Amino acid sequence: MNFAARILGTGSAHPQQRLTNDDVARRVAQFGVETNDRWIRERTGIRERRVADPRNRAETNSSLGADAARRALAMAGKAATDIDQIIYATCTPDTLIPSTACWLQQKIGADRAWAMDINAACSGFVYGIVTAEQFIRSGHARTVLVVGAEVLSQFVNWQDRTSCILFGDGAGAAVLEQAPAQGPRRLLANHLLSNGDLNALFLIPAGGSKLEVTPQRYHQNLHKIQMNGREIFKVAVRTLVECAQRTLEKKQMTVADLDWFVPHQANLRIIEAVAERLQFPMERILINLDRFGNTSAATIPSVLDEALRSGVIQRGQTVLFDAFGAGLTAGAVLLRW
Ligand code: ACO
Repeated sequence: MNFAARILGTGSAHPQQRLTNDDVARRVAQFGVETNDRWIRERTGIRERRVADPRNRAETNSSLGADAARRALAMAGKAATDIDQIIYATCTPDTLIPSTACWLQQKIGADRAWAMDINAACSGFVYGIVTAEQFIRSGHARTVLVVGAEVLSQFVNWQDRTSCILFGDGAGAAVLEQAPAQGPRRLLANHLLSNGDLNALFLIPAGGSKLEVTPQRYHQNLHKIQMNGREIFKVAVRTLVECAQRTLEKKQMTVADLDWFVPHQANLRIIEAVAERLQFPMERILINLDRFGNTSAATIPSVLDEALRSGVIQRGQTVLFDAFGAGLTAGAVLLRW
């Protein structure tokens, strides 16, 4: 390969409306469901999340994605017309058809690009980065926009206290560009995996071509998220550790070579368990789930964006992204900034 890929700029965006744990407790109480701030904080680390207003056209999935993309382009010093390719990672698209990538393309005016969605749930941004890298390394694209964005609040079952407390809405984006194969600033390695046998752990049963949403299924909430939280917790810890180790091994590196670890933001206890198993210090793990909850494909790019804009991640430092999500999907990306 003659080329490598590097991230030139990042951006993020979240809806205006802030839902604290107390707000969630009030919202679910109308269904006779009990939860409270203390339980949510202690069991998940989440204090609040942002929730899109579906009547606000500036807060659709693609609008949030477009805001994040514009910020990423500005940081990269690029125009929308410089983009060759748009990869949009989401499991909560604006519409099933057309793709959210095409909605975004129209909004930002990326006239030269071709655009597609990918659905790898919470691993979507990592899958998107690795996909973009392949097009860049092969010379098929110079500049690729990767977006991870979700409006999960539309798919949350507010009568299920084990899942509704976890999720928030938001978007993150990265502009990738061709770089010299051995350049100092580039993506170094990755490891992706899926296990379709675990498809029932996190599922929206109805609303696809397999099961239409009938009035009866609507009342059973089959068009909403169903989740086996305890099982996901165990699989997530195991899988995040495996992806991190496999990726580092590909470069003969260990966690001691890492400056920053950016895990998927699902539950602080999952992150702590992974840190313990990897023997990696919590102080060098980047976290924003206390303020945004689990925003699925948007978690890693929004944490990354915060860390870059606040100067936490410095030039020359080594960073590992590590995600798991419904599917099961999982993956890690190692890069030097
Ligand atoms: N408020 C109050 N009590 C609650 C709540 C709540 N919101 N939710 C559950 N409880 C109760 C349970 O009923 C149970 O009570 P019991 O002991 O009387 O039976 C008790 O709390 C403990 O329940 P557990 O399910 O064992 O709680 P746990 O510590 O496992 O936390 C949680 C549950 C937060 C869901 C955790 O398992 C988790 O985070 N799992 C991973 C979920 C995840 O990552 N999902 C997304 C993955 S895919 C994607 O990201 C798209």
